[in-house]
Amino acid sequence: MHDLMKIAITGVSGRVGAALAGFFAKSGHEVIELDRRSLNLASSSMPSSLDPSWDVLFNPAAISAPDLCEDNPEEAYQVNALAPRVMSAWCAEHRVKFVHFSTDYVFAGDEQRKCSIEQVPLPRTIYGKTKRAGEIAVLAANPQAIVARVSWIYGAKKPGFVDSVMAKIRLGEQVTSIADKYSLPTRMDDLAHWLDLLLATPACGIVHACHGGEAVSWHGIAQWIADELYRLQRIERRVSITAQYLSEQKNFRAHRPVHTAMGNASLEKWIGPVSDWQDALRQHLLESTIKP
Ligand SMILES: NC(=O)c1ccc[n+]([C@@H]2O[C@H](COP(=O)([O-])OP(=O)(O)OC[C@H]3O[C@@H](n4cnc5c(N)ncnc54)[C@H](OP(=O)(O)O)[C@@H]3O)[C@@H](O)[C@H]2O)c1
Repeated sequence: MHDLMKIAITGVSGRVGAALAGFFAKSGHEVIELDRRSLNLASSSMPSSLDPSWDVLFNPAAISAPDLCEDNPEEAYQVNALAPRVMSAWCAEHRVKFVHFSTDYVFAGDEQRKCSIEQVPLPRTIYGKTKRAGEIAVLAANPQAIVARVSWIYGAKKPGFVDSVMAKIRLGEQVTSIADKYSLPTRMDDLAHWLDLLLATPACGIVHACHGGEAVSWHGIAQWIADELYRLQRIERRVSITAQYLSEQKNFRAHRPVHTAMGNASLEKWIGPVSDWQDALRQHLLESTIKP
C-alpha cells in the first residue's frame, strides 16, 4: 500500500490510458489526465506542460498501430521514442516516477518459446523499432523508470480483440481469426492492479507485465472463449471459430511477428505470482456476461 498520489497519465483517450485514469481515480488518487491538447508528444516544447509536483507520470500515449507507423515513420519515432526520452529525463530531474509502456512487438518472434527480458529484442517493423528505441532512450535518461512491455489488452472501454470476439459470439455472428500468430492476452484490470503494486516496490527497468500460461493464437483465444461461454451456459450452442492465416492478410502492410508471448518472471519477482491468462479471461467472461 502507498499514500494517495498525484498521478499524471498521457494517452487518456486510448485503451490503456483511459483505463488507468479510471482505476487510479477510483482508488482515491489525484489523476491528471493529459490528452493530446494538453501534452502533444509530437511537439518539442513538452516539458512546459509537465508539473514537478506529480508523484508518477504514466506514458501509454503512442502511435500503436503497426500499419500507421509504417506510413508515418518520422512521427512514430518522435512520439514513440523521442518524446518518451524527454519525459523520462524530466522525471529523473524532478524525482517523478516514470512508467512507460512498450510492446511484445520489440521481439522478432521467430522462436517458439517465451521471450524473457534477457532476450535481445530484434524488431522488424517501424512500430517495433520505434518502441524499442523508446525503451532504450527512457532507461538511458532515467534508470529508475519502469518500462512495462504489454500485449493484447482486453477489458478496457475501447474494445480489443477479446471484447469484439465475445460480442460476435454472443450475437451469433461467424468469427474468423488468425491461427498462426501467438502471444498472451492481458486483462486490463489486472494490468492496472500490477502497476499499482509495482509502484509500492523499488521496481525499475523492463518488466513483462503479462499473465502466465502457454502462448496462444488469436484463433486459440477465440475458440477458448466460445467453449467457455458454452460451458458457462452463456450461449446455447457450441461455436466453431474459423481459422485464417497471416499469409492471407493482404491488408496488413507491416510484418507481424509470430511468437511474442513473454515470460513474466520480471513482474512476479516484484509482486509475487500472477494469474494465468485462462483464469483472468474466465473472470472477465463471468463479470461481463449475464446469464440468460
Ligand atoms: N493495446 C494493446 O493490446 C497493446 C499491446 C502491446 C503494446 N501496447 C502499448 O501500450 C501502450 C498503450 O496502448 P493503447 O492500446 O492504449 O494505445 P491506443 O489505444 O492506440 O492509444 C494511444 C494514445 O496515444 C495518444 N497519442 C497518439 N499520438 C499522440 C501525440 N502526438 N500526443 C499525445 N498523445 C498522442 C492517442 O491520443 P489521440 O486519441 O488524440 O490520438 C491515444 O490516447 C502503447 O505504448 C502501446 O504501444 C498496447
